[in-house]
Amino acid sequence: MTIFIQIRDLRKTYVMGKSTVHALDGIDLDIIPGSFTVVMGPSGSGKSTLLHLIGGLDRPTSGSIVVDGEPLEKMDENQLAEYRRKMVGFIFQSFNLVATMNAAENVGFPMRFARTTNRERRTRSMELLKRVGLDDRALHKPTELSGGQQQRVAIARSLVNQPKIILADEPTGNLDTASGYGIMQLLSVLHKAGHTVIVVTHDPRMQHFSTHIIYLLDGRIVSEAEYQAASTFDFAETSEGETTHES
Ligand SMILES: Nc1ncnc2c1ncn2[C@@H]1O[C@H](COP(=O)(O)OP(=O)(O)OP(=O)(O)O)[C@@H](O)[C@H]1O
Ligand SMILES: [Mg+2]
Repeated sequence: MTIFIQIRDLRKTYVMGKSTVHALDGIDLDIIPGSFTVVMGPSGSGKSTLLHLIGGLDRPTSGSIVVDGEPLEKMDENQLAEYRRKMVGFIFQSFNLVATMNAAENVGFPMRFARTTNRERRTRSMELLKRVGLDDRALHKPTELSGGQQQRVAIARSLVNQPKIILADEPTGNLDTASGYGIMQLLSVLHKAGHTVIVVTHDPRMQHFSTHIIYLLDGRIVSEAEYQAASTFDFAETSEGETTHES
């Protein structure tokens, strides 16, 4: 089977004064094209760090990420920026919409540097809002939308440049149960449309939509059995995954 994203011995180390944090401690992972991977793990296990590195938002301390045959570590800043723009759509827990812009303007925002006319941007924004079921909310500002609707706008925005990869970091974390489920279904639709999806989540319902599940503990990938064993001791009593892993 072809590998779309090949990760080898990926490490990210933060040195803060006298303490060293191994946020990622030797990750090996193959992502096949068109897969839907769910990443589970307690707070501080390295989930966001992994997504940021795959998305080219940050550089690893060592190790390699090859996407579609291109090693990210060989790219200079401009090439990495182009990789982010063309290949990757990001979705965050907090939506990250611009408060002063309406839904359509938010969706069109990533196109601002491309050579497009206002009319092209508007048409494309409306297409995408339709795709996420929000074409009737195009003129609403973020405060005039529900959380689930704001996340749909953010998803539409992430699709502007037709990215092959969609990275979502706890996309349902700020949503109620029902809205969260709607977002999962939307991600599933995108997966079925051919996008390669990687989602960090604490919500076990996401697993029903996934083709692969990986478990992170202290910056390493572990088996489901190891993960379950650790959860019973380690973070069973904490609320909302708020554990601290000092290392
Ligand atoms: N910029 C940074 N500087 C120093 N340490 C960092 C930095 N970013 C992350 N870390 C540390 O790296 C580890 C992994 O962080 P990361 O954000 O990837 O965890 P996470 O699994 O996404 O957690 P959460 O579920 O709380 O979002 C944590 O111990 C964190 O404190
Ligand atoms: Mg995180």
